Amino acid sequence: MEKCNVQKADGKLGVLVVGLGAVSTTFMTGVLMARKGLAKPVGSMTQYDKIRVGRGADKKYLKYNEIVPMASLDDIVFGAWDVYPANAYESAIHCEVLKEKDIEPVKDELVKIVPMKAAFDKNYAKRLEGDNVKDVKNRWDMMEQIREDIRNFKKETGVSRVVVLWAASTEVYVPVNEKVHYKLADLEAAMKADDKENIAPSMCYAYAALAEGAPFIMGAPNTTVDIPAMWEMAEKTKMPIAGKDFKTGQTLVKSGFAPIIGTRMLGLSGWFSTNILGNRDGLVLDEPANFRTKEVSKLSTLESILVPEEQPDLYTDYYHKVRINYYPPRNDNKEGWDNIDIFGWMGYPMQIKINFLCRDSILAAPLCLDLVLLSDLAARAGRWGTQRFLSFFLKSPQHDYTQDEVPVNHLFQQYVMLKNAIREMGGYEADEEID
Ligand SMILES: NC(=O)c1ccc[n+]([C@@H]2O[C@H](COP(=O)([O-])OP(=O)(O)OC[C@H]3O[C@@H](n4cnc5c(N)ncnc54)[C@H](O)[C@@H]3O)[C@@H](O)[C@H]2O)c1
Repeated sequence: MEKCNVQKADGKLGVLVVGLGAVSTTFMTGVLMARKGLAKPVGSMTQYDKIRVGRGADKKYLKYNEIVPMASLDDIVFGAWDVYPANAYESAIHCEVLKEKDIEPVKDELVKIVPMKAAFDKNYAKRLEGDNVKDVKNRWDMMEQIREDIRNFKKETGVSRVVVLWAASTEVYVPVNEKVHYKLADLEAAMKADDKENIAPSMCYAYAALAEGAPFIMGAPNTTVDIPAMWEMAEKTKMPIAGKDFKTGQTLVKSGFAPIIGTRMLGLSGWFSTNILGNRDGLVLDEPANFRTKEVSKLSTLESILVPEEQPDLYTDYYHKVRINYYPPRNDNKEGWDNIDIFGWMGYPMQIKINFLCRDSILAAPLCLDLVLLSDLAARAGRWGTQRFLSFFLKSPQHDYTQDEVPVNHLFQQYVMLKNAIREMGGYEADEEID
């Protein structure tokens, strides 16, 4: 690490999670179990992946923490907010993602993670009934109360840095409104004027995090930090932001599989994706306005991989449809089906079917860990604003749409971006060699 000038990861790292549901408790339990040596953090890039640095005779393969100073699992201190008052142990048991035998050994630690009162507005998630909710005067006050929570958490735990991660329910779709979401001053004015329609509670969390010097990560498809006013806030506070929507099951497969079609110059006439899901996330997404947010995020993946303008014969007018159906018996074990209608030589049609029997939170937990640790790294490396190198973990990567920037959705291009950012922060040369 002799060439690296990233600030060291001294002291403890506070990880404040918005939402203490299936994803968060699976993430927390896994980290606590792993640091006792009772489970393995499978799927986590920061814990397993090795990146090549140098070339020819100088080349070597190093883990991330051998290239740049990373916080370790032992450094993490968790906190959370939720609409329901259940602590992390009760919530983990309730969600039924993990077996009791994988939760009990860290029960003592989980019980202590008691959610702070949520900054919540029922109009943003109608199906949630919990009452562990802040009493606020307006959106500005909502934000100020979250700032106070962050400061108190720091004081009580003695952590030296904090990262805020949104792993709460998907809010209803908030379309980008130029009058409110483009300039920081307008956003602040709308918060003070209690503009409930344009200011989602998630925006109050994000603003508060950045104001307190904490990177903010959006794990749901909410527009929260995907607006120019928040980019301005991230620039002002010199803090990293990342979003949006964890790339876990079906979209992971899509962004890894679509390149097969695009690389072999095969045509696409339609891609139909459907899911059944029975956890609380599925319940919230059963509400059309909440599903709309998810739909926009899930649909964006293909457009930048199979581009009609680049290959009109192959990709003009393909039909892309995504459905999520709430189906309680499966709980967190989502089943996804993809039917892909492709065509080949002389336009002859063929079909591909993919049936993924996945576990939503098991796929999301390592992404939480990686996004948190890499955002903390980015902050220490002095990187602020949208962290494009984290697109690898996200379904709908943030990009500057005001400048017509096209997001990178291709999984393997995203991986190159991730590796190069780590190489550069470690003082090595970026490159595009495949290995
Ligand atoms: N698991 C995956 O594969 C995956 C992939 C992409 C995105 N996501 C997103 O991650 C999020 C979490 O998923 P989950 O399965 O854990 O859902 P969940 O319903 O189990 O947990 C979400 C929790 O957030 C709480 N909440 C809602 N609004 C809140 C607010 N304003 N403040 C504080 N808490 C609030 C809810 O009470 C609930 O306990 C969802 O938005 C989901 O769409 C999940």
